[in-house]
Amino acid sequence: MAKEKILVVDDEQGIRWSLTEALRIWDYSFVEASTIEAALAAFDAEQPAAVLLDINLPDGSGLDALREIKSRNPQAVVIMITANVMVEDTISALRGGAYDFIGKPFNPEELRVTIRNGLEAGELRKEVTTVRRERASRFSFDKMVGSSPAMTELLALGRKVAASEASAVLLQGESGTGKDLLAKAIHYTSRRATSPFVAINCAAIPGTLIESELFGYEKGAFTDARAKKEGLLEQAESGTLFLDEIGELELSLQAKLLRVLEEGSFRRVGGLKDLPLDVRVIAASNRNLRSESEANRFRVDLFYRLSVIQLDVPPLRDRGDDVIVLAHQFIARFNEKLGKRISGLTSEVASLFRRYSWPGNVRELRNVIERVSILEDGDVITTRYLPSDLARKTGTAEATSDDLASLFPLPPDGVALDEVEFSLVKQALARSGGNQTRAADLLRISRDQLRYRMKKLPDTPEP
Ligand SMILES: Nc1ncnc2c1ncn2[C@@H]1O[C@H](COP(=O)(O)OP(=O)(O)OP(=O)(O)O)[C@@H](O)[C@H]1O
Ligand SMILES: [Mg+2]
Repeated sequence: MAKEKILVVDDEQGIRWSLTEALRIWDYSFVEASTIEAALAAFDAEQPAAVLLDINLPDGSGLDALREIKSRNPQAVVIMITANVMVEDTISALRGGAYDFIGKPFNPEELRVTIRNGLEAGELRKEVTTVRRERASRFSFDKMVGSSPAMTELLALGRKVAASEASAVLLQGESGTGKDLLAKAIHYTSRRATSPFVAINCAAIPGTLIESELFGYEKGAFTDARAKKEGLLEQAESGTLFLDEIGELELSLQAKLLRVLEEGSFRRVGGLKDLPLDVRVIAASNRNLRSESEANRFRVDLFYRLSVIQLDVPPLRDRGDDVIVLAHQFIARFNEKLGKRISGLTSEVASLFRRYSWPGNVRELRNVIERVSILEDGDVITTRYLPSDLARKTGTAEATSDDLASLFPLPPDGVALDEVEFSLVKQALARSGGNQTRAADLLRISRDQLRYRMKKLPDTPEP
């Protein structure tokens, strides 16, 4: 492995000499500079793994050099060296992104450890950025399939929102429509892409825990709080906090969240001071938050704050031929995963897909394709292995309620609904010769639902 290169910047030759001698012994390579100008030139030319930077230099302050280096490469590892450490200098250097400080005359062991830690931290930062870049390319708007008018409009709006500074965004849409995917696409195409995307599902965490999860707590905030804990809001600093199923968030926490959005600051549980915060909150809900707020189950003021930028993700049934394009994409994905060679859908299946209502939206479509990809022996998807639900709900035209009214008029004195149900169940079983699957099909219910109803029948033997 090549030796790691350190840039040593100090105007005193003696200091440079003792620093570089130490570096030589520890097996680093190095370059030297005695002015800011020379340091910046060497930084650009040599791409050092770390910089040892004096604060007092002949052509300016090392703090300015630090700022310049950081603007050229925000990941640069810079260790400041200084004769008399002044508090203000320390603070402004750390704010300016210095990794650490080392005093003159330096203690060799301390210097060695500081350099080693700094290099390690630099490596980690680089890895994190690489991982985030890779992720960013996986979650872009280009990966969201959809060229129907409804999706084209949504994706265009999403891109605008991503580029904007909007601090709150609300995504509404039925389950499985792609709200998660959209939230990630917004984050990874925004200026926040290299900062964290932190997701929390408000329905999955008990109300009592969610406050400390989100806001963190100070030591001693409650009995178990032995040390201070960072909340998810803090972890998302400079990035995006994705609050999934926000409709499930307790009203008291909704108020606290609203404060975060209004004031750009928050307070840890048990904390006394407000801490500044720069996060974008993307909230998602598959409930209609407007009606939830009208029913007093969601805070009206939070709803208004969130709905300034509201994106409605359309259900799959309203996306025209996107369903076919998506199906082909999932076929390709499962071909690869399962080692299959399915080339497409029969026209009959395509037509079923267009007519079906897809209550579970894109997720349901993906699951259907996975199922048939596993079961299908041929190289096209036929109706053979489609879930019966799908074939049934789209197959024959369903009787409308008007048709039914003429088939089964309500007797003048009314009728016991249970007896009608018993009678229909018995007729279906009789017609199917006792075959429960076929009887269930005749009644458009599942076999489990049929069995449940059979148990309620007064005189049917147990199956
Ligand atoms: N436009 C799309 N293109 C490609 N894949 C999609 C698209 N929309 C959704 N998907 C895929 O469908 C699945 C469900 O999407 P997602 O989890 O984003 O839905 P959701 O709206 O968050 O659902 P829920 O309300 O249940 O949380 C995921 O596997 C996602 O990758
Ligand atoms: Mg989701």
